[in-house]
Amino acid sequence: MLLTQSVEVQNSGLQYLSKSQSSPETRSPNQEILPLSARVNSQDRLEIGGCDVVSLVEQFGSPIYILDELTLRTACSQYREALKRYYPGESQVLYASKAWNCLAVCAIAADEGLGIDVVSGGEIYTALQAGVNADKLYFHGNNKSRSELQLAIDCGCNIVADNWLELSTLVELLENQASQPVRVMLRFTPGIECHTHEYIRTGHLDSKFGFDPNDLDRLFAFISQQPTLSCIGLHAHIGSQIFELQPHEDLAGVIVEALAKAASYGLPVAELNVGGGLGISYTEADDPPSIEAWVKTIGQAVAAACERVEIPLPKLLCEPGRSLIGTACVTAYTVGSQKVIPGMRTYLAVDGGMSDNPRPITYQSVYRIVAANQMSAPLTETVTIAGKHCESGDVLIKNAQLPVSKPGDVLVVMATGAYNYSMASNYNRLPKPTAVLVRDGEANVIIQRETYQDLVRQDRLPERLVK
Ligand code: LLP
Repeated sequence: MLLTQSVEVQNSGLQYLSKSQSSPETRSPNQEILPLSARVNSQDRLEIGGCDVVSLVEQFGSPIYILDELTLRTACSQYREALKRYYPGESQVLYASKAWNCLAVCAIAADEGLGIDVVSGGEIYTALQAGVNADKLYFHGNNKSRSELQLAIDCGCNIVADNWLELSTLVELLENQASQPVRVMLRFTPGIECHTHEYIRTGHLDSKFGFDPNDLDRLFAFISQQPTLSCIGLHAHIGSQIFELQPHEDLAGVIVEALAKAASYGLPVAELNVGGGLGISYTEADDPPSIEAWVKTIGQAVAAACERVEIPLPKLLCEPGRSLIGTACVTAYTVGSQKVIPGMRTYLAVDGGMSDNPRPITYQSVYRIVAANQMSAPLTETVTIAGKHCESGDVLIKNAQLPVSKPGDVLVVMATGAYNYSMASNYNRLPKPTAVLVRDGEANVIIQRETYQDLVRQDRLPERLVK
């Protein structure tokens, strides 16, 4: 028996199914906790994309990331359509692929008409391999290497310049090249505070990202003299997992003013990128605005600011990550050992942990969990979900509410699509889990489970140590 601390909790896993009566496509995915296609079948088991989660674990193993194509595509189209509706100029949504960069996800985003925000040579390479056109890639980063910049130049992607060293490196690399000027956006720090975890705030002045806003005149004067660089626009991003609309409205004003200043230097600035940052619901206490409300606020604020400073409407870009993919994925684990500390706590261990989801230990992020094989069972147990790593802090969820669970049961942590696989590690030499894409009852492996051979693939044993 598990230690029961709150027998009066009579809720069940069903509480996480959408309360909305409207069809899945009309719900804003970032306001849900389970993917849009989630339902409970006649065996009282959780189904996603028409696939029984327990059967997926039986077929593909555990732990497993389960990505719902409907949710991801719906979020993409809601951003795209809202921009058309609320912004009178041209627009383009980019997927911030740092949230989850892999071939299938890049391919789906591109298929939905999105461009891709990439932040390393590896992300550029993956997006290109997925078939994304280079002119739809925007290359970010505060310390791009020479070889990454060369790769970006060679493939022809847009470069979001972040600092002076990067600009001078670009000028140097392009010195003897007679090709078209490289399309460069300039990222600056907008100096906007917002309420989110300190590690994921980027828009305030004390940030490692972007040009100092007090340096803009010098910056515009410099770049207007560079024949090899074409300054196509400006970029700013204020942070991540943001629930307020006001900082983004403020950002619109700040960035449009900077755009007007750039235009006064004769720069061909035609694009304005407001970054990403819209938050998602990890728990029922989270209350983010909808995708539509976020886009509406920004679209209208940018249009109004342009009218105020009398510049033509730029092409408006935004680059969400978490709100596109966060809710689309769940992670299924299998229950293993448990430890009851009488009067204190019950630990229930699962077969993954901080290696597949480093967010709880890194940001103290809170997640919710359900028992996939008994969705309507009362939540009578309060347990702490521990990972299997040799680290006391490897706890996925403190004080989770679950039905009585036994070894072998499948538990599902929700809203794990963003910054889980992409930040996963091999700590303790755990192979990274597999990921499947589910849709209409079909499951396709999009990332194979790592094997022990994969773990030693890059290892080398010096000859003198070979036995
Ligand atoms: N654009 C830029 C320049 C960014 O730095 C980011 C996120 C985004 C867009 C996308 O932001 P989103 O829409 O996903 O909020 N690992 C952290 C999040 C780090 C966010 C980094 N930048 C986490 O797990 O919460």
